[in-house]
Amino acid sequence: MSNSSRKKLLLMGRSGSGKSSMRSIIFSNYSAFDTRRLGATIDVEHSHLRFLGNMTLNLWDCGGQDVFMDNYFSNQKDHIFKMVQVLIHVFDVESKSINKDIEIFVKALTNLQKYSPGAKIFVLLHKMDLVQIDKREELFNIMMEKLQNISNPYQFKVVGFPTSIWDESLYKAWSQIVCSLIPNMNLFNSNLIKFNQILDAEEIILFEKTTFLVISSTTSIENELNKDLQPELDPKRFEKISSIIKTYKQSISKLRTNFSNLIIRGSNGSHFYIDILTDNMFIMLILKDKDNHISSTVQHEELLILENIKAARKWFE
Ligand code: GTP
Ligand code: MG
Repeated sequence: MSNSSRKKLLLMGRSGSGKSSMRSIIFSNYSAFDTRRLGATIDVEHSHLRFLGNMTLNLWDCGGQDVFMDNYFSNQKDHIFKMVQVLIHVFDVESKSINKDIEIFVKALTNLQKYSPGAKIFVLLHKMDLVQIDKREELFNIMMEKLQNISNPYQFKVVGFPTSIWDESLYKAWSQIVCSLIPNMNLFNSNLIKFNQILDAEEIILFEKTTFLVISSTTSIENELNKDLQPELDPKRFEKISSIIKTYKQSISKLRTNFSNLIIRGSNGSHFYIDILTDNMFIMLILKDKDNHISSTVQHEELLILENIKAARKWFE
């Protein structure tokens, strides 16, 4: 495998900030409750995750206790900070030692600038569920401004997300982090638009198969034009779907079963299709029922849609 398809991601932040929790939920099918069992990470835990076929994510979950951190910034610094594509720095928003948290972040930036100056930096302001709802946005903005100012001298642009393991925000952040590493993103997007020119679906969404992270999405031209007139569309709907399907998959795996496709007939006339698209991707289509059919034609139409998905496969492999 070429080096370009192997991506090193550093997961850093103080002990207890929630690094291993998010890794276990996104990549190892843990529920938020399961994370309470996790012990502190000793040194670095490596996971190698196949992602979209030819991409391997090498995730370095760096235990955040001081004794380990001191080592990362001294004896191990070239080993840790060399050839890094992405730093994901996790801050506990309820931390009582914010100065120490920032000191660690600055040390990470200093080392990255030396060993991996091209790295992308994401910061997650995590455990947002512990902050009062009406204070979250303000807190996020204040902290992001501070962190961006700190990063400016190092010439890193910082992208931040408010996250919590208790809602879908974690999926939104990780989808964007992972998508920033996919080289042929534009091809996925343009093929999805092409596919929808044939299907005229309300929406189409591509999900990575094991994590259910959102890779790409498109909407009908009509929807796009009337975007502002549709306040009822939940802006968090994709991440919510990721989270719901992941929980569903987890529940049915306890019954030692799995699903290859799902069709849900909504009460408002919409049909939802979730189907395997390629070895690495699920596709979700939302189609509005345009006419009133008798049930036999509905089934015929459903088969036709599934056939269309099969036919589109080659565009996404
Ligand atoms: P080290 O391995 O020592 O560096 O810690 P860590 O960053 O890996 O922390 P870990 O994931 O082990 O999480 C510590 C505790 O925080 C666990 O009990 C989690 O259940 C809890 N936790 C993680 N994420 C969240 C969150 O979003 N909200 C809340 N309320 N608790 C969380
Ligand atoms: Mg840990």
